[in-house]
Amino acid sequence: MADISGLKERVEEIRQEILKKADSMQTVREAYDAKIDYLDSKRGKISALMKDMRSIPADQRREYGQTVNELKTWAAERFSEMDARMKQRELAARYEAEQIDVTKPAVKMHPGHLHPVTQVREELIDVFSSMGFEIYEGSEVETDYYNFTALNTPKDHPARDMQDTFYLSPEFLLRTQTSSGQIHVMENKKPPIKILSPGKVFRADDDATHSPMFSQMEGLVVDRHITLSDLKGMLDVFAEKIFGEGTTTRLRPSYFPFTEPSVEVDVSCFACGGKGCSLCKGTGWIEVLGAGVVNRKVLANCGIDPEEYSGLAFGIGLERTAMLKYGIGNIKLLFESDVNVLNQIGDQT
Ligand code: PHE
Repeated sequence: MADISGLKERVEEIRQEILKKADSMQTVREAYDAKIDYLDSKRGKISALMKDMRSIPADQRREYGQTVNELKTWAAERFSEMDARMKQRELAARYEAEQIDVTKPAVKMHPGHLHPVTQVREELIDVFSSMGFEIYEGSEVETDYYNFTALNTPKDHPARDMQDTFYLSPEFLLRTQTSSGQIHVMENKKPPIKILSPGKVFRADDDATHSPMFSQMEGLVVDRHITLSDLKGMLDVFAEKIFGEGTTTRLRPSYFPFTEPSVEVDVSCFACGGKGCSLCKGTGWIEVLGAGVVNRKVLANCGIDPEEYSGLAFGIGLERTAMLKYGIGNIKLLFESDVNVLNQIGDQT
């Protein structure tokens, strides 16, 4: 190609090549590579033509130089066109891929919530602390004395059969009731006493409504002139706050060695309003807790003079309350920690 006519052929070839490339081009990167291929001062095919000028007869050099320069200008324009076109193309593809349908419904979020038993515990603490109760947390391992004897349930008392006990040794056991906390509090504090004691308790009991480990909330009030009507008044507030407005309570005679008189407390059925349904088994009432006036012997066991002071006590089962409140049929659902199940139970806030 050492003359001008060879150059013209070569120029035409290069133009065709570039136009062909432009047609099939897909990316900005390809546009850049193509430009380097032709215009790079060291490796470019068009730059190479310029270098060939030395071997051209002197009288043709001017035309040669002009022709190559024209090609160079033309190619530079094509490459900048290609670059702009490819940028547009990539942007359009990106817009397409990242398109958002603003009318699409949002993905449903499942924020976690407290475990239903924790919810019930916190609600109870709210209700009773608003009445001036303080929290006392006892220990899960107890002596026979605190769990039974001091609560007027000496060895061989038939009431011990009501609570199948896990003994750790003849003296130590896993507490069967938070009532053991009553004794610790009364031994250490002079009246007036108003405590709430939440905690785990243990009984060898296992079916759809019983678990070997469950939670209770004990309440104890000791002061002058405390009577059963104080208990009833407090429990009426509790019933409305926990089970809903309009819920009332009813006391039925019962027996616990550490209270006299003792009562079972029912609430009016919050599912049917008292008319009778499957939850209340047609009676209109649901049993929720045991309570009573603190037995004089228990006060005396703790060095509190029963002539001067009297007390009331109650024990609420937390799992049972959660089961009633949220309509749970099997207590095991509260212990299995299956998030799919728990997501459906309790207040979702
Ligand atoms: N401790 C009793 C029980 O577990 C409940 C109770 C507590 C009853 C306080 C009376 C007073 O069944």
